[in-house]
Amino acid sequence: MKTNKIKVKITTKREVANQLFFFELTSVDASVLPQANPGDYIAVETPSKDNRHYSIASTSNDGKSYCLVIKREPEGRGGSISMADNTKEGDELYISEPENEFSFVEGDEHLLIAGGIGITPIFSMFEHLVKTKHEKFKLIYLTKSESDTVFLNNLMGNDNVSIHYSKDGRYDFWDLLMTPSEKHIYCCGPKSLIAEIKDMTGHWPTRLIHFEDFTPVEAIRADDKAFTVRVKSTGEVITVSEKETMIHALRNKGYKINSSCESGTCGSCKVTHLSGVVDHRDLALDDDEKKNSLLACVSRSTGDEILLDI
Ligand code: FES
Repeated sequence: MKTNKIKVKITTKREVANQLFFFELTSVDASVLPQANPGDYIAVETPSKDNRHYSIASTSNDGKSYCLVIKREPEGRGGSISMADNTKEGDELYISEPENEFSFVEGDEHLLIAGGIGITPIFSMFEHLVKTKHEKFKLIYLTKSESDTVFLNNLMGNDNVSIHYSKDGRYDFWDLLMTPSEKHIYCCGPKSLIAEIKDMTGHWPTRLIHFEDFTPVEAIRADDKAFTVRVKSTGEVITVSEKETMIHALRNKGYKINSSCESGTCGSCKVTHLSGVVDHRDLALDDDEKKNSLLACVSRSTGDEILLDI
């Protein structure tokens, strides 16, 4: 985690929709948690010892709790399964202070678009708009069915909210996006939804269009092969199996590598590589940096061995 760790207790945990788990995390010493702004996320140290980022959907009125909704992803990297299956109310966890890559900009008008679990940061913006009595906004929430939907009680009854049940996530946004205006647009959801909104807003000023993509980089793929890492400082040769990441293999041998997102986006796990063929899978390094650095949470080797300067 990049920021200070905060110890919290799970004060509420329940499955609120299909594979969607609501968590209330409360400070262990009854202190007020750092203020969270709309669109903020925290890193959570899961029982599986992974760091995972989850949006803060809501904060309690007394400021002592953050509320999250975590989707259990059977095909994921294990963090969400660990949160869903290996936690219970009363357990303590470490989280980071709130961070933001999806900042909410105050404006006269807002269009909020959520697909599936993408509702979590969008819900924090919705709550903010309601609390601050903004009336000029619209929230469109695409979800498969009622049993896949969260915050129904909070959203239903608000005339600015439209919930659309659709198995394939289809919705015709063109009427809303055809004519550019000064409206801020926020979209969070699967890649297909983000790509569609990007396509439809190409003629809008970029300062008005805001995205958050929850789809993690694929650190492990079905056709991956094992490779070895040689550590320059010790000479140790470590095998990274086809089913694990480089950062896990190094940690299992006692090497300390910083991390935050563990999905190839933040750059915290950057290490220098001295030789070997690197398969960079990150979204953070530029071409120059890739010549001698790699991000150990997602990068692999397409050759036999990588030499790391650690
Ligand atoms: S931990 Fe964020 S890029 Fe690796």
